[in-house]
Amino acid sequence: MQIKTVGVLGCGLMGAGIAQVSAAAGYKTIVREVEEPFLKKGLARIEKFLAGGVEKGKVTAEGKDKTLRNLSGTTKLEDLKDCDIIIEAIIEKVDEKGKSYATLESVVGGDTIFCSNTSSLCITELASRTTRPDRFAGLHFFNPVPIMKLVEVIRGLATSDQTYQSVFAFAQSLGKEPITAPDKPGFIVNRLLVPYLLDAIRSYEHGLGTIEDIDKGMKLGCGYPMGPFTLLDFVGLDTTYYIANIMFDEYREPAYAPPPLLKRMVLAGRLGRKSGRGFYTY
Ligand code: 3HC
Repeated sequence: MQIKTVGVLGCGLMGAGIAQVSAAAGYKTIVREVEEPFLKKGLARIEKFLAGGVEKGKVTAEGKDKTLRNLSGTTKLEDLKDCDIIIEAIIEKVDEKGKSYATLESVVGGDTIFCSNTSSLCITELASRTTRPDRFAGLHFFNPVPIMKLVEVIRGLATSDQTYQSVFAFAQSLGKEPITAPDKPGFIVNRLLVPYLLDAIRSYEHGLGTIEDIDKGMKLGCGYPMGPFTLLDFVGLDTTYYIANIMFDEYREPAYAPPPLLKRMVLAGRLGRKSGRGFYTY
């Protein structure tokens, strides 16, 4: 199918990044946030990133202007009525997502594809909250969205071949490298990444080394861009805790069980970079 207009639901960290890469790829992109201040914040994030790109010589001034021209923001779901594909990146709550899908379905055409950027919820369950489970897929981006090349494409039980192919081709058209991941908690990347991060916390609790030394070990010894604690702070401790709980619920394997320290840090509001303090202070 021909995709011309893209809708993005949510203009937080992930939604803003998705809207940016979509607009940069030449799609007319409409991003929706619930309230004006959140929308303004998200659009300002995009402008700042593009301005930074121009400063670094990674984005041309022309490219920046073109991206911003292709992009518009709204607080009304109805404004997404002409979208060929809608990528939802809102709060990780099945009921909230389901409510948004229902409102969207009352305004969009029958061919519109729905995607969710969920990192851990079941795509088949989300699809079942719509009347178009065959036109529903997972499209999972990585943070920071404009920089990370990977996108996971997830087929729910009912996703049609045509939808899967369209979504895969759409991801490629954004300049991303898609991979096909199963509809199982964590998909491919978080399934491997989260136990590693949890193990780093457990090992630290058991005296393996200091936070700085463990980070340095993995960064310099393995060539990872960030050590596990820097990455935990970057992803968000609450997000990691949330994903770990969903994975543990489904698999019941100790590797996915959130360690006591992670739970306590979340309870104490030490969520990482976003709260100013996690394993490090910002
Ligand atoms: N516009 C365009 N390009 C930009 C830019 C901008 N505003 N800002 C930076 N860049 C480019 C840089 O020029 C550089 O490109 P180059 O490699 O071609 O020179 C590249 O992006 C990296 O930028 P920096 O050099 O400024 O920054 P760092 O080298 O410190 O890298 C990082 C930052 C990309 C965040 C790196 O530390 C990294 O990859 N960290 C790991 C991130 C990660 O693992 N993310 C996944 C998290 S898991 C997830 O998201 C899943 C979810 O479900 C939890």
